[in-house]
Formats: sequence, C-alpha cells, structure tokens
Amino acid sequence: MSHFVYANGKMHAEEVPLERIAAEFGTPVYVYSSASLTENFLSYANACRANGRGEQGALVCYSVKSNSNLAVLSLLGKLGSGFDIVSGGELERVIAAGGNPHKVIFSGVGKTRDEMRLALAYDILCFNVESIPELHRLNDVAGSVGKRARVSLRVNPDVDPKTHPYISTGLKENKFGIAFEDALDTYRVATSLPHLDVTGIDCHIGSQLLDDAPLLEALDKVIELADRLHVAGIDLHHLDIGGGIGITYDDEKPVAVGDYLSRLFARIDGWRKEKHGGTPITVMFEPGRSIVGNAGVLVTEVQYLKHGASKNFAVVDAAMNDLMRPAMYEAWHGVLPVTQREASARVYDVVGPVCESGDWLARERALAVEPGDLLAIMSAGAYGMTMASNYNTRGRAAEVLVNGEQFRLIRRRETPSELFSLENV
Ligand code: LLP
Repeated sequence: MSHFVYANGKMHAEEVPLERIAAEFGTPVYVYSSASLTENFLSYANACRANGRGEQGALVCYSVKSNSNLAVLSLLGKLGSGFDIVSGGELERVIAAGGNPHKVIFSGVGKTRDEMRLALAYDILCFNVESIPELHRLNDVAGSVGKRARVSLRVNPDVDPKTHPYISTGLKENKFGIAFEDALDTYRVATSLPHLDVTGIDCHIGSQLLDDAPLLEALDKVIELADRLHVAGIDLHHLDIGGGIGITYDDEKPVAVGDYLSRLFARIDGWRKEKHGGTPITVMFEPGRSIVGNAGVLVTEVQYLKHGASKNFAVVDAAMNDLMRPAMYEAWHGVLPVTQREASARVYDVVGPVCESGDWLARERALAVEPGDLLAIMSAGAYGMTMASNYNTRGRAAEVLVNGEQFRLIRRRETPSELFSLENV
C-alpha cells in the first residue's frame, strides 16, 4: 500500500503533510516513508520465511546503489538486511550505518585493489566476480594480506529481461558477467587459486522487470550450470539470483514479490530434492528498486509558468541533476499536486532550471497549478538521490525520513560553498 496519500486535499507521507516538510526544510526535498521501506523489505524476508528459509537459508542483500542514505541503510540493517555494494564507498556507508559487513556482497565489473583490500579487511561475505583477470587480482590481493576471499561468479545467462536497454544486463552483448560457455573453465581457474574459496554463483539480468518469467528462466540456466559444476566436483554453498523486480510508476503491474519467491523456492526445492538428496543451498537476492522506489517522493516548488503557443511549461526548482531518470531513460514519474486545487487544469511539461533541453521531469501532464505550489514527483525513492549530481553548481536536495507522525532530516541540503570547498583558485 502507498504511504503517500491525500487527507483533506493535502498529500501526506504517512501522517505528515508534505507541506510541513517543505516549509521546514525547503525544496527540492526527497521524502521517504519508513513504513513503506519496512513493508517492502519484509515482503522479501517474510516470503523467505514462508518458504521455509530461516537466517541461514536465505539472505536479502539490499542493493545500496538504489538509495544509499545512511538512515535508509540503518533501517534496513536493523530489519536484518544484508547489502549488495558496488564500491568501497558503498561499503564505508554500510559500515557507517551500522550494517553487518559479514552480510555484504560486492558486485561490479571494475573492483580496484584498494576496494578489494578494504572489503577483505571487513571480511565481507562474498565477492561477486565478473572476469578471470578479476579472479587473479583478488587472489593476489587476498594473498598479500594473508586472507582468503569467498567468491561467487556472476554468470550471464543470456536471458532477455524485456526492460529498458540501459538497464538490462543479462544479455550476451552486455559488459556484465561471465559468458555461460566460459563458466565451467572460469570456475576451474577460481578453484585452482590458493587464496580464494569458491562459495557461490550469481546473476542479475536487469532492472524494472514486471514479470518473473525471465528471472525463472535465468534460474533454470543457473541450476543447470550448478549441476555441471557439481559433476566437475565443484559444489556451491549459495545461489544469488540478483535483483530486478519492478515497481508501479504509472499503470505497470509488477509481479508480487511473494508470488515470485514462492515460484522460485518451489523450483529450487524440487531441484535440490531430485538431484542433491535434499541438501539445501542458501538463496540470495539483491533487490533495490522494489524496496525503496515507491518509498520516496521528490517535493518541488513551481517557480514560473510559461504559457506558449505550442507548449506550456511549469518551471520547478528540482531538475535533472536531482532526478536524472527522465533525462537519461525517458522514465515516467507521476507528478501530483501536494495541495489539490479546484481549478481547471492545463497541460504542462514540468521542467527544471538547468540549461539543457533534456532537463525535464515530466511531459504533457494536466495540472492545475500556480507559481509557489508544491508538486510531488512520485516513485522517486530509487535511483533518485543516488544518481543526483551538482551540475550547474546546484546543491543536492535535502532528504527527510518520515515515521508515523514524526519526521527528521537525514541529509541536509548542500550549500554552494560546500560545493567548491575542495577546489583551489
Ligand atoms: N544487483 C546488481 C548486480 C545490479 O546491477 C543491480 C542494479 C541490482 C542488483 C538492483 O536492481 P533492482 O532491484 O534495483 O532492479 N539507474 C537505473 C537502474 C540501474 C540498475 C543497475 N543495477 C534506473 O534508474 O532505472
């Protein structure tokens, strides 16, 4: 259920009017709902439990890149979440938020030596390795610090996730993962290296998937590969199917997490029973968007209205640097008035002040607005703030976390002097 709803014509985040948050912290401001984050995380954790997986049998590793605010990480960590990271910086965030490093998995095609050393020092759960050179580098680094690194190989199942080309990652032509036909040989290399422990297999085929069929197809391929590895004497402790479940931005109807997980666990249980005498395998997930996407909105104030012959523009104080998704992927986000007005609507493009024609947040929306009104850009919790930049020397938006009737600033707005404080004349 949504925790951004109208009461008396005013949109609230849980019990708090967005107007109040904007008055206190200014705009643009990202507002997140604790209840929504909690429910979304529990949709995974509870489905794992309902399918007979306790602490050891399944691990949900929230994908930090989707929203890395410390308060968000802390909340999820307290609910028992692990973390999927893609940089040393994200690892430092997880630690600063009180997250458990032994529940961290490290993904990404370009891990540096320093990042590997940092992750080994924290004794993370697993490195998701994407190439043979990376295996050799990790082996060297682990040896040099007298440790062993647990590794999983990210395989590329060549499944079409049927999503936006920029966010599909499991096809052959993508830079991600190890080609299926090379997987067995790559596992042989991994097991031959003295400072590595091969513990798992992983894949991630793309993001904003509405149907779980491609995920289950990827699972079948991964299972088949795990059996070939078993025959070759390589047994795995875990299987990580990645993230990717989509959310409703407009009228999309994504598969329910509980349904997807039931189907997935049914296949895995059947497989373990049939081929492995019922020996369990730990199952891991890396969800981002489905946990945080609909738990956040971006609140912005209308600055000017420009009515033209062919188009009307509502110029707002949020821009592409705050929410990159429309400019980058032509992504659609709902735009709703924070206070509903009894007036006739006009059709507007909602644009920011950045000097680029690509700086738009929404196109052709019927809105009854006046300068000074607040708008909520919906479904902005995932890949919003984490992809924000300081283009045009714009300080990044403030972030606020709501919990019931309470709300608190979890990141204050950057000031201009902070933006150039690292520079020298
Ligand atoms: N695991 C790996 C290895 C990933 O690359 C990703 C996302 C995830 C997990 C989390 O996927 P999710 O559950 O959020 O779909 N910026 C784009 C999305 C990029 C996704 C990148 N990888 C957007 O705004 O739509």
